[in-house]
Amino acid sequence: MNAVYPDLTLADFNQGKILYGEKCVACHALKSPKSLSPERWPSMVADMTNKANKKEMRIDPTQEALIIKYLVTMSTPAK
Ligand code: HEC
Repeated sequence: MNAVYPDLTLADFNQGKILYGEKCVACHALKSPKSLSPERWPSMVADMTNKANKKEMRIDPTQEALIIKYLVTMSTPAK
């Protein structure tokens, strides 16, 4: 679907977007995907997943991976 994740399906991309909207708004407003570079999102989402899981707002590893793919895709400048 894109240069960053050649195998990413539209279904997974859409699922990542939905999960982002559901899981990442629990503690603060949603950040724009463009607010961080594609390099920084994976570790940021990992940090946030830890925070969420500590508070028992479960984000499982599959969901975490989909959220990362959505955010990295959205923050990567179009060629
Ligand atoms: C359990 C509460 C909680 C959840 C759920 C959560 N966050 Fe956060 N987030 C925080 C807190 C608290 C901060 C303040 C900075 C810190 O402690 O790192 C923060 C800061 C951030 C920042 C830094 C932005 C800034 O303006 O400084 C980003 C980006 C971010 N979160 C993204 C996410 C994403 C993406 C998700 C979903 C995967 C998410 N957050 C889910 C609590 C949460």
